[in-house]
Amino acid sequence: MTSDKLQQARSFETQYAAFIPDAERPAFHVTGAIGWINDPNGFSCYKGEYHLFFQYHPYSTEWGPMHWGHVKTRDFIRWERLPAAIAPDTDADRDGCFSGSAAELPDGRQMLMYTGVYRVRRPDGRMEEFQQQCVAFGDGVDYEKYAGNPVLDGADLPAGGSVLDFRDPKLWLEEGTFYMVAGNRTEDGSGAIRLFESADGTHWRYAATLDASCNEYGRMWECPDFFPLDGKQVLMVSPQEMTAIGLEFHAGYGVVALLGSYDKAPYRFEREAVQAVDYGTDFYAPQTLETPDGRRIMIAWMQNWATTGCKPQGCRWFGQMTLPRELSIRDGRLVQNPVRELAQYHGRRVSYKDVLLTAGATSLHGVEGRMLDMTVTVRPVDGRESYQAFKLHLAADGNCETVIRYKPASSTVRIDRTHSGFPYDIVNVRDFPVRPAGGAVKLRVVLDRYSLELFVNDGEQAASMTLYTPQSAQAVSFEVIEGAARIDVEKYSLEFEEDAQ
Ligand code: FRU
Repeated sequence: MTSDKLQQARSFETQYAAFIPDAERPAFHVTGAIGWINDPNGFSCYKGEYHLFFQYHPYSTEWGPMHWGHVKTRDFIRWERLPAAIAPDTDADRDGCFSGSAAELPDGRQMLMYTGVYRVRRPDGRMEEFQQQCVAFGDGVDYEKYAGNPVLDGADLPAGGSVLDFRDPKLWLEEGTFYMVAGNRTEDGSGAIRLFESADGTHWRYAATLDASCNEYGRMWECPDFFPLDGKQVLMVSPQEMTAIGLEFHAGYGVVALLGSYDKAPYRFEREAVQAVDYGTDFYAPQTLETPDGRRIMIAWMQNWATTGCKPQGCRWFGQMTLPRELSIRDGRLVQNPVRELAQYHGRRVSYKDVLLTAGATSLHGVEGRMLDMTVTVRPVDGRESYQAFKLHLAADGNCETVIRYKPASSTVRIDRTHSGFPYDIVNVRDFPVRPAGGAVKLRVVLDRYSLELFVNDGEQAASMTLYTPQSAQAVSFEVIEGAARIDVEKYSLEFEEDAQ
């Protein structure tokens, strides 16, 4: 049965979302029908389609009592809107349906698992927020919350686990058993990832703690995911309160991949390597699914909690997802590239080979636009690093621009949105190390109206960034500082029919 609260959210989105023109949204990145979104939730296959839910507050562009919004797709690029899926409307989740996941059950139902939140005022007047895990079952549109919710609460945690920070269950089914990982604050104030198992999805038991921050990589670990990839096991977490470590981890909200091995019998995860997942300004709370053809696809909230106050005045939607990305492991590192389905939306191809760049900015005929997929390979002239820096200027119009810069001497890439429409004193620049092969660096840029995603050297590093540059800023140019370089450019415009969101 649809509760009043859910019905109210559904009516609100139906009534008002139509007032937001398509041209004022990203062309192929998911946004909410209206209002605020954060984390991706329930990213999963169901009956041959890919479903994505998300943290959703339709009534304003601020975070508020959390609902789950809902879209689905067949190709990760064109998304169909579905009505809001769940609302905070039961005792177990009366103050919010926080992040969680979904799975297709053998009996054909879709199961959602999420964090139910309720607040209680303490005798000293402060509010305390309790977090517990709940489930709901449905048909891909409508969901019935389980009457026995919560299915997991503080009593299920091992000693020292906080009942106030216990959230974001990521669910999967394996050989008839349900497994789930969730984030939990530990006694030292930092975070751990707990693994639970269940025979039926409603009766759960704590199995093991897979790994813990021990105050090394941030504090509380949110939104975990845990999956095998190319012979390794990946534990992905979103730590709060990171302190910066070199150019690998920036301060604040980060996303960390722990690569290792997993022994299922004793539930032991052995961490072997740690790396950042995205080196840009806007990337958090990623979630993955496995496609029927065996690909591991990741999507994330393309936003940073630290800058959620920085949005265009009067905007009707806020928060967008990244482009879904295919994950793999190469040379012991997590590699990510845009889903291959993006190529189905390639329009006109423009390509240049071996263009010699000397002092000053160069434009190339046919290379411009705000919805594009472009790869630029930069090589030194005669095999020597005969330049100080290479700069790619995007979304430019004389006043505005977004810049990607590569410096061969330090082997670093910088993304810079200082002039990309943000009138705020926020982080606009990030630098990160790359590994050029034979002196050449390959920069693949996917631009949508309000974002840039960069993939360096076939996905070895990714960097995501939101921008609010006016749409009329379409120019692209290439520049070499002090010296000369040669570039190859392959650029596709991205083209969508009008009914794409
Ligand atoms: C991460 C997060 C989750 C939580 C949700 C609430 O961005 O804080 O841990 O479930 O957002 O909206």
